[in-house]
Order: sequence, then structure tokens, then C-alpha cells
Amino acid sequence: MAKVNSNGHANGSSGKTNGNKSDGLASSNLVDIQSGLISREIFVDDDIYQREQEQVFARSWLFIGHESQVEKPGDYFVSRMGEESVILCRDREGQIHAFLNSCRHRGMKVCRYDEGNAPVFTCPYHGWSYATDGKLVGVPYFKSAYDQKLDKSQWGLVEVAQLRNYKGGIWATWDGEAPSFLDYIGDYKLFMDLLLDGWDGTEGGTEVFGGIEKWSIPCNWKFPSENFIGDRYHNISHRSVDLVGIGPSGGQRRDTQERAGAVAMDVSFPERGHGSLNFIRTDDTSIGAYQHSPVVSEYFAYCEEQRRKLWGKRSRVVAGPGTMFPNMSFLPRQPRTIAVWHPDGAGRTEAWRWFLVDKAAPKEVKEFLRQYYIRYSGPAGLTEQDDMENWNYAHSASKGVIARRYAYNYQMGRNFPAQPEGLEPKLPGQAVDVTKGVAGEQNQRGFYSRWAEFMDAPSWKELATWKNGK
Ligand code: FES
Ligand SMILES: [Fe+2]
Repeated sequence: MAKVNSNGHANGSSGKTNGNKSDGLASSNLVDIQSGLISREIFVDDDIYQREQEQVFARSWLFIGHESQVEKPGDYFVSRMGEESVILCRDREGQIHAFLNSCRHRGMKVCRYDEGNAPVFTCPYHGWSYATDGKLVGVPYFKSAYDQKLDKSQWGLVEVAQLRNYKGGIWATWDGEAPSFLDYIGDYKLFMDLLLDGWDGTEGGTEVFGGIEKWSIPCNWKFPSENFIGDRYHNISHRSVDLVGIGPSGGQRRDTQERAGAVAMDVSFPERGHGSLNFIRTDDTSIGAYQHSPVVSEYFAYCEEQRRKLWGKRSRVVAGPGTMFPNMSFLPRQPRTIAVWHPDGAGRTEAWRWFLVDKAAPKEVKEFLRQYYIRYSGPAGLTEQDDMENWNYAHSASKGVIARRYAYNYQMGRNFPAQPEGLEPKLPGQAVDVTKGVAGEQNQRGFYSRWAEFMDAPSWKELATWKNGK
């Protein structure tokens, strides 16, 4: 693998990469935060991709679904963790589990549907059956073929090491040594609260609305992850949709009245890899957004009022896109969605998108949001294909032997000021004021410095360094 030098050019004789994929270079050499250069190899190299599966996806907390998708006993939703298919389900006792969707006999997928309700999961290959708590409960010819000697208690579905339901969002990790979910997110919790609480401030007051959009993009999974964590810079890509004006109040692609006179703040948690883009309003004046119909605008005005009462100054945070390391991105404001970028090889990503609405919102509000979500998101929407077009061509134009010699540039916004004194609420993490600079790349640098740590660290013992004051 090539190490990047200060001109963004790969080291090696005649400027060529040495082509040796196993020369033992640490990932931190491919990600040079000091100079703001990152080697293209981390996006296109197959060996690095394989290593990511072990180092990043088998150890991180990954978003797998929402409790409203598995409300009743027997409800299941087939999700993914990295490349693995997993079954998120609620057992007969009401407990939520996540299992590897692979039969313990010969590996067949025990559930081939996207979602539903089942008393047991019966493997289509030879018929082993598993209860919704994962236990192996049925084995054909148990008496005659196995002599009743197969110890069923040892052959249940493989379950994740840890699972956490936080305000309805469900995350899991395969790593028993990983810190608790709340420790994994740290002060980034604020953004999960903004995402999962009801618009009127009700704790965990959201539900998943409609089906899950799924599509495939020919690019590395880190392109969308880094775009959502901090790319204010790419607004030019959405110029046409801004002109069309598909936003909830008929302007631009999202409502922007909420941001008038606000301070733009980028927030990075480099010790954890998470990041988010925000605006902070400087006063409590009413924002008059979502002018669609009386019911809709009344609902949002009511919610704003409630938030102000419940949250005080925190209600001034207009939270924008963010990414929780490694591959869960979200928008806490309309369109209120969660996306997971599942890795499918170095050059392919399977994108899944969930949509959230307030459980208690009137039907008309949910319908209004449904229409907006459809025109905004996914491959059939008007905004998301702009992004996909960029990631698609950036990836394919980066994988040739010549292209790979040149690092990407992440040098923007290295000296932005901290949050202005007296501006409240004080945002957690490494918060910088980008109002003047318009866009910076500190969040991307934070994401990749954490990525490099994951790639090099032997275990969570080394990764949970924030405990030692980092
Ligand atoms: S693979 Fe499932 S029963 Fe054989
Ligand atoms: Fe975009």
C-alpha cells in the first residue's frame, strides 16, 4: 500500500505505488490528518475492504432497526450488520433479539422475507426450526437419524453480543468487549435525542413510517458516510432541486426559514468517529415553517411551542445531517430519516433508508410527510440521486492504477473559531463556527482518524481510550 506524502502523491519509485498489498503499512499512514491527506486506497483496495469487515463492522455498534418495526411477539425485520444478514425479532415474552440469519446446520438463510410475523423460523434446506428466542426447537428425524443425541441447546441461532434499544432505535454489536452503547456514543447522545424524540419533545415519540427503501450504489460505503458527517461544501450538486423548490413550504429542498440569522456549527467527536452539522438559532422567534395546510402548519407550530417549553434553549438547535460511526447517517429534521450504508465489496454499497414520523401526529401530517419524503429521498426522489451520481463517478474515477497514486484533499477549514461566547446551548464535542467559512472538513478528518484507529487497534481495549481522558 502506498503512503501519502505532503503533495498528496503516493510514495514509491517513479511516483508509483509499490503494488504490494501486504507490506504491513499501518492504516494511520494512509490517513494523514496533520496534512489533511487521505490515500484513495482506503476506498478502492479489496484487502483494506476485507480488513474493515473484521476491524470496523465486527466491532462497532451498528443500527439495525426501530422497535416500531417489531411491535408484537413474533414480529421480525430482516436487517444487516456489515455484510451479514440478521433477523431482528421480538420473542413470545416480548424480548427483542438480533440473530445471524444463517442456519447452524449448513448456513442456509433461515428467513428469506424482508419482514413479517412468525411463530418459528424453519430452515428451507433440511427443516431445522428455531424459536423466536433463537433456540433450536425442531430437527427432522431427531430420533432416527441423530439417535436423539444432538444437543439442541448448543445449536441455536447465533445472537449478537450486545443489543440496545435507545428511544426506539435499535443498535447491536458482535463484540462482547465493546463499551456499552451509551458509552460508545458519549455526548453525541444529544443528536440521537433530536432524531428519536417526538417533534413536540415527547421522549422517543417517533415511529417508522411505511416501508424501508433499499437500493444499490456503485461506490465505497465511506463516500455516503463522510458526505453525511460534514459535507456542507457540496450544495452546488443540489442546485437544480433547490431551484425546483420541493421543500415542505415550497422553497429549496428543505425548509430554511429555521436557519435565518442562525450560527452554523460543525460538531466532530474524533475520539469516537461521529459528527454532525447544525445551526443554532439566536433567539426564540417563531419560524413559520411547513406552510402546507392549516392542519400541518398548526401541528408544527404547536410542536415548536412544546419543544421550547420542554427543552428551553436546546430547542434552538436546528440539527442537520450527521453520521454515527461507522455507517449510520440521519437527518433529525424533515425529511426525518435514518440511512445505513451497508458494505457490499470495496466498490458497492447497499443503501437502506428508514423514515420517521411522530407517533401521535395527525394522519394529515403523516401523509404530508410521506409525500415530501418520496419527492426528496432515494433513487426515485429529487435530491438523493444528485449525491449518488457524485459518489458513483468519484469511485470509478479513483480506482485506476494512476488515479490511486493521488491522495484526496481534506484540508478545508482547519482554523475555524470555536462556538461564540454566550451562544446557547453549548454544543458538545469539537464544535466550530463555520458561519463565515461556509464549509469545513473537520468532521471528515475526525471520522477518518477514528477509522484508522479501528483499522490498527487489536481490540476494544485500545479503542476505548476516551476513558483515559482523551
Ligand atoms: S441448512 Fe438449515 S437445516 Fe440444513
Ligand atoms: Fe447531498
